[in-house]
Amino acid sequence: MSRVTFASKMGLIAAAAGSAVGLGNIWRFPSETAAGGGALFIIIYLACIFFFGIPLMLSEFIVGRSSKSNAAGAFRILAPNTKWNYVGRLGVFSGLVILGFYMVVCGWTLFYIFQSVTGGLSSVSDFSANFETLLQNPLKQWILTVVFTFMTAFFVVSGVKKGIELSAKTMMPLLLLLLIILAVRSLTLPGASAGIDFLFKPKLENMHPSVLMSAMGQSFFSLSLGMACMITYASYFNNETDLTKTAFQVSILDTGVALLAGITIFPAAFALAQNSETITSELIAGGPGLLFITLPNLFNQMPLSIVWSTIFFVLLAIAALTSTISLMEVVTAYIHEEFNLSRFRSVLIVTIVILLLGAFSSFSSLFFNTLDFISAKIMLPIGGLFTSLFVGWYVDKKIVFAQLTNDNKISIGVRFLKAYVFILRYLAPVAILVIFIYGLWGSF
Ligand code: PFF
Repeated sequence: MSRVTFASKMGLIAAAAGSAVGLGNIWRFPSETAAGGGALFIIIYLACIFFFGIPLMLSEFIVGRSSKSNAAGAFRILAPNTKWNYVGRLGVFSGLVILGFYMVVCGWTLFYIFQSVTGGLSSVSDFSANFETLLQNPLKQWILTVVFTFMTAFFVVSGVKKGIELSAKTMMPLLLLLLIILAVRSLTLPGASAGIDFLFKPKLENMHPSVLMSAMGQSFFSLSLGMACMITYASYFNNETDLTKTAFQVSILDTGVALLAGITIFPAAFALAQNSETITSELIAGGPGLLFITLPNLFNQMPLSIVWSTIFFVLLAIAALTSTISLMEVVTAYIHEEFNLSRFRSVLIVTIVILLLGAFSSFSSLFFNTLDFISAKIMLPIGGLFTSLFVGWYVDKKIVFAQLTNDNKISIGVRFLKAYVFILRYLAPVAILVIFIYGLWGSF
């Protein structure tokens, strides 16, 4: 069966990077960093990206491109008559759980676009209260969630090339440019250096088992790993794609955007704080609101604040959209191929489930936080652990080698290969398990 592929190399990278770069980088990374005490969290995060993130992304690419199938089908093709396909099914389930709260945050970005365009945001005096008012209105949040879910569904129904590839290719570079401009503005505010200290000077007393678990969870979440998303996308890769290079490019881009978001938000948060004594505890308590409170405040310190905030929130919504598209695609491809339903019907089913979960998340912050916690900190690491074991131990090394070298067309070093297999077989599984148990034990 011939399968659709992404049309160009640039489009393929943009789509994978579009999945990775999203609210996870700009909204979740800063709030997790604040909760994790700053620099120490970032160091552990970077180590997780390097030691498990990149190797696991490569593994998902290998599973996806060699099987050219959906999340569950991919495992079944490589391991027929085994239970491995449950790893793919778990991924599909994780996708729904993530969509159940992520879509609500997407709805918040729509609200901020609306407030920016109408000029309402520039006349706000208390940005925390402004955000709180939105949270107090669950119906409004849900309606915005519905709108964003329909936008996502539209692109997923449109298919891989037109829907996914084109949107990602045009918008990602713009977002990057805007973040750089905002980072410069934030860094040049008086008092900004306290934010940089918070971000880059580790305080060892912040070390707590849950910080390790949060950093690991965030690395999976941000790179879209552990739920077969990159397996599904790699099933649309063509045979010329250099998988190793792509995994590095996407991971570096994703990490760069997260750090840039941190460099934008923390200096601004410290510089604009009313009371520098309490800022750290406010940051830590700020949680999900950090982005939506600090940045509008930063825009208000700039000339033409309406223009800046409008562009920023539109781009944020687009970054979020390329991620929700990838999340929805995992579930859609699974239903479409495993149950032989049309793409349209598959999207319809996914949409209904998201709207239900989104309603609960809009009405209950406990539900919202629970979905966030179990997906990033529990389900994705479990998915990643099994994918690592699968490629490290089960998949025929000839397949792994053929995928890495594109059937001997590109060369890879023996040392690289050995290190890669060592990570998949031992380092990643043991480290994920240890962090997981240690973190869970520390959370209670
Ligand atoms: N990586 C996305 C982000 O950082 O916003 C979220 C995400 C997308 C997670 C796709 C998992 C996934 F499969």
